[in-house]
Amino acid sequence: MDRIAIVTGSDRGMGKETALALANNHYSVIMACIDIPNASRAGDEIKSMSGNKNVFVYKIDLSSIASIKQFVQSFLRDFDHINILINNAGIITMDHEITEDGFEKIMAVNTIGPYLLTKLLVPYFPLGEDNRIINVSSWIYKFGKFSIEKMNKYHYVKAYSVSKYSQLLMSLELADGLKERGITVNAVNPGTVRTKIMITNIWFYDFLINILMAPLYIEPKDGAKTCIYLATSDEVKNETGNFYRKCKPVVIPKKFNNKTIRTGLLRYYETIFKENLSFSAC
Ligand SMILES: NC(=O)c1ccc[n+]([C@@H]2O[C@H](COP(=O)([O-])OP(=O)(O)OC[C@H]3O[C@@H](n4cnc5c(N)ncnc54)[C@H](OP(=O)(O)O)[C@@H]3O)[C@@H](O)[C@H]2O)c1
Repeated sequence: MDRIAIVTGSDRGMGKETALALANNHYSVIMACIDIPNASRAGDEIKSMSGNKNVFVYKIDLSSIASIKQFVQSFLRDFDHINILINNAGIITMDHEITEDGFEKIMAVNTIGPYLLTKLLVPYFPLGEDNRIINVSSWIYKFGKFSIEKMNKYHYVKAYSVSKYSQLLMSLELADGLKERGITVNAVNPGTVRTKIMITNIWFYDFLINILMAPLYIEPKDGAKTCIYLATSDEVKNETGNFYRKCKPVVIPKKFNNKTIRTGLLRYYETIFKENLSFSAC
């Protein structure tokens, strides 16, 4: 059976490096992206660099429930299964924006959208195969203490930290829930990487910050290494429910990995899912 991988936000940065690595590993690669012209250019580059023609671009806007559903419908028109899902796309914005579905935008793109996408795709991971889900989180989760009631009120760095913490917790919960189903779920801390999300030039002092930060950045190719390792290595085929940094599992301090917070968060996501997407994706 053809091995199929979906990588969200794969038109640039670490997602593009991950998509290239999967194409090099003979996967059919679905690039799920918001900017179709840029994604098509990136897709052509990946095809020519890897020699793999099975690289396909699909539109997804993770801030929109309708767009997530539309993506899944389009994907299932052309394919009947998935083996790897990489929830890579992410944003940070300074403004406090509320999406058409009523969620704070950073939370919507970085964690609510990926959760809904994952839930819609779970039935299409074939039983008895090597199936993996990888969520690109961040070291910044440690600043993401949250309360469910305030989920739409956080903004900028706090919203980003909360979204990355939520993504990590969602990963741990899904790992437990999908063990029986034969799908592994792990999260990644890629480090501090020179990508669009990090390099902003909005304020005059951004230029200075970028110069000061320059020695700390690693390149996207290096930032993507742990994600690629989790997606392709036989060593981690059966590993699930871990948080990885530099291709090794790292310990999440107990105060951040609390079952009550995890189940509370999942209940919140499940309510959103049931209210919006509990019917068939097709
Ligand atoms: N860079 C770091 O230091 C760092 C550290 C820790 C974690 N991370 C995480 O790593 C992941 C990859 O980011 P990156 O560093 O490679 O940054 P990046 O180059 O900015 O890539 C982010 C990707 O997400 C896409 N995206 C943004 N909004 C979207 C939406 N509404 N729907 C679908 N896709 C959307 C972007 O598309 P467009 O650009 O075309 O809009 C882009 O392809 C993110 O989850 C980020 O939070 C990054």
